[in-house]
Amino acid sequence: MAILSKSLELMTKTLLIIMGMLLAVHATNFFNEFDITWGGNRAKILNSGEVLTLSLDSSSGSGFQSKNMYMFGRIGMQLKLVPGNSAGTVTSYYLKSDGSTWDEIDFEFLGNVTGEPYVVHTNVYTQGKGDREQQFYLWFDPTKDFHTYSVLWNPQTVIFYVDDVPIREFKNMKPKGVAFPMDQPMRLFSSIYNADQWATRGGLIKTDWSFSPFTASYRNFNAGSACVLSPNRRSSSCSSSTAWLRDGLHPKEVKKMKGVQKRFRIYDYCVDGKRFPSGLPPECGAL
Ligand SMILES: *[C@@H]1O[C@H](CO)[C@@H](O)[C@H](O)[C@H]1NC(C)=O
Repeated sequence: MAILSKSLELMTKTLLIIMGMLLAVHATNFFNEFDITWGGNRAKILNSGEVLTLSLDSSSGSGFQSKNMYMFGRIGMQLKLVPGNSAGTVTSYYLKSDGSTWDEIDFEFLGNVTGEPYVVHTNVYTQGKGDREQQFYLWFDPTKDFHTYSVLWNPQTVIFYVDDVPIREFKNMKPKGVAFPMDQPMRLFSSIYNADQWATRGGLIKTDWSFSPFTASYRNFNAGSACVLSPNRRSSSCSSSTAWLRDGLHPKEVKKMKGVQKRFRIYDYCVDGKRFPSGLPPECGAL
């Protein structure tokens, strides 16, 4: 018995070490992948590049952006949002291209007073035009642990995921005359800022600066499935397996997404008739 459990223990340990090594190979380093763009030392890269934190205080927020640009990809990382009283703060996390007719795929996390739910605000801009908001509550407390927020963007579709659960899809509906992000590479951005004019209950609750600094944390950036335009190369190089370029949701995942939307979606522009008196946007017919 003792021998058996010893060898089991050894096996488990070996497995853990191997898994650790695999993770180490995959874990990307924040120093290599991102530039801090504003906020000075309110943005910090820690643990030799494993973790990044962004803070907001009464004089400034902070932000970072990816060094690389991406032309399609499955791109994501883990975030742990501002704990406690975060009302009035917004942590934004998005892909965006340059120029005045930009494309953008947005996650924004709207803080709340202690114990009340964060709102995940999403939007899709194509050719500089957004107005495609959907908002969700989460099925967990996003301030307790790290959770993965990612986007699959390929020529067919844009899918928003929370911990591998699809919450929203924006399909390519070019044939219906809806612009789709097809030809402008995007960079990943994130920032934390004060938005107490509008963020929490429509601006009703103000940021309480006695709780500052407000800090969000990031780790495990993953753009392993993406086509990358590095700053010194204008040509794009894709990861060896590009199956994700054709990926979409399987029927099971569509079902899962619809379940999440039914239970956790609190706003959908596609059913906001009041906002679009002359008719809902053309993409709203599908799905
Ligand atoms: C904050 O909590 C209130 C009350 O539960 C809720 O109505 C609101 O959606 C929450 N989130 C934000 C960002 O206001």
